[in-house]
Amino acid sequence: MINADGGAGRFPDGFLWGTSSAAHQVEGDNRNSDWWEFEQQPGRIANGDTSEVANDHYHRYREDFALLRELNQNAHRLSIEWSRIEPSEGEFDARQIRHYRDVLGEMREQGIEPMVTLHHFTNPIWFARKGGWAVRDSPHAFLPFVHRIVDQLGDLVRLWCTINEPSIYGANGWMRGEFPPGRRGDLAALYRVMSHMHKAHELAYGAIKRRWPDAQVGLSQHKLLFLPASDKRRDHWATQTSQLALDRWPVAPARLRRIVEATSDYIGIAHYWGQMCAFDPGRPQDQFIRRFNVPGRPVTAMGLSADPGWMRVVLNELRTLGKPVYVTENGLASDDDDWRRSFLTESLANVLLAIGDGVDVRGYFHWTNTDNFEWARGYGTHFGLIAVDRQSLERTIKPSGRLYGRIAAANSLPD
Ligand code: BGC
Repeated sequence: MINADGGAGRFPDGFLWGTSSAAHQVEGDNRNSDWWEFEQQPGRIANGDTSEVANDHYHRYREDFALLRELNQNAHRLSIEWSRIEPSEGEFDARQIRHYRDVLGEMREQGIEPMVTLHHFTNPIWFARKGGWAVRDSPHAFLPFVHRIVDQLGDLVRLWCTINEPSIYGANGWMRGEFPPGRRGDLAALYRVMSHMHKAHELAYGAIKRRWPDAQVGLSQHKLLFLPASDKRRDHWATQTSQLALDRWPVAPARLRRIVEATSDYIGIAHYWGQMCAFDPGRPQDQFIRRFNVPGRPVTAMGLSADPGWMRVVLNELRTLGKPVYVTENGLASDDDDWRRSFLTESLANVLLAIGDGVDVRGYFHWTNTDNFEWARGYGTHFGLIAVDRQSLERTIKPSGRLYGRIAAANSLPD
C-alpha cells in the first residue's frame, strides 16, 4: 500500500494522473460497430449528431498524447475497439492491431502509462446481430478478441480494465433504450447482460493473467451515491435495493466480495453523481422505488445532481475490500469551466481525504481529455479539459485543463 506522505495536500509517490476516454467517442469512422448503425436511425442521437469523424483521434493520437504531456499526465485510459479488430466473426484485422501497437507505443514513448479497456459500450455488428450480451454464448464470443489483444499487445500494457460499467451499459441498452439495441423496460435482459459481462470479465481476467502474470487487471464499475430520502426503514430499503440492483453486480454482497477477491487486482470506479431513493408503492415498474436528484445540490448538464464531497464517501465504501483502487472516471458535464475547475479541485481533495482514511487509491483518471461524442447526447454535452472545434477539430486546452496539469506536475493540490 502506498501512503500519502503527510505533506499538505500531497498525493502518494507514483500516483497516476490521467484522463479517460473510449474509442468510439473520439476515434471516428468506427463503422463496423453496433453504435454506428444505431446512430443512423432517426431520433436516436441529439441534434442528429453521429460519431462519423468524432475527434479523428484515430489519426491525431500523437497530437492528443502530446497535449496530455503538456498537462503533465503520466497515464491515460483508452479503449481498444473490438469491431475494428474483429470486423467479422473469427476474422482479425492485422492492420488494426498494428494501429493499436503504434498508439500504445507512442504513449509509452511519451511517458504515458496506458490503462487499456477491452469493452467500452460498443460491439461488432456481427455480435449484436447474434443477440449481443443478452445471449448465453456472449462471454465466449468475446474471448477470441481478448486472446488476440493480450497476445499481440500485452507487452505494452500493465493496467487492464476488462469491461466498462456493465450496469450503465445494460440499463441504457435494455431499460432506457438510449443505447443499442434500444430496448426499454426489459429487466430480465438487463440482469442477463450484467451477468454475462461479469462472466466475460472473469474469463478475460484469466486470459490476461495466464499470459502476463504481473499485469494488473480489473474492471470499471459505475458507483453513484444513493441516499435515503428519509430515516424511515422503507427508504433505507429502497436505497440498499438500488445499490444492489444498479450500482453493483446482481449478486449478493458475499458473492460480490468473493468475485472481487478472485478476479480483480484492483477496484475501478467511475463516480459522477448521486440520487435520493424513496419507497413508492405506486411504482411497481421501478421495483417500488422513486429516485430523484438530491435537493440543494447543483445539477449538471446531464440533469443529475453532483457533489464533489461524495467522492470520499464512495471511496470509503471500498475500504474493507482491501484492494488498490483507481478512479477510472470522474468529471463534470458543464459548459461552465469555472465550475469544472472547482469541482476538479474539490473532488481531488476528497480523494486525498479518502487516502487519509486508509483507502489505497493509486490513480485518478478524469473524464475526459477532449470534449467528445457523448453517446445519445452527441456533441452538445461537454466533459472535456480540452475543447474541440467541431469544424476544424482544432484542440484548445481549457483553464480546467491547465489547472489539472499544474496539480499533476506538483503531485499536490494548490494551496
Ligand atoms: C461512460 C462514458 C461517458 C460518461 C459520461 C460514463 O458512464 O463510461 O463513456 O461518456 O459516463 O456520460
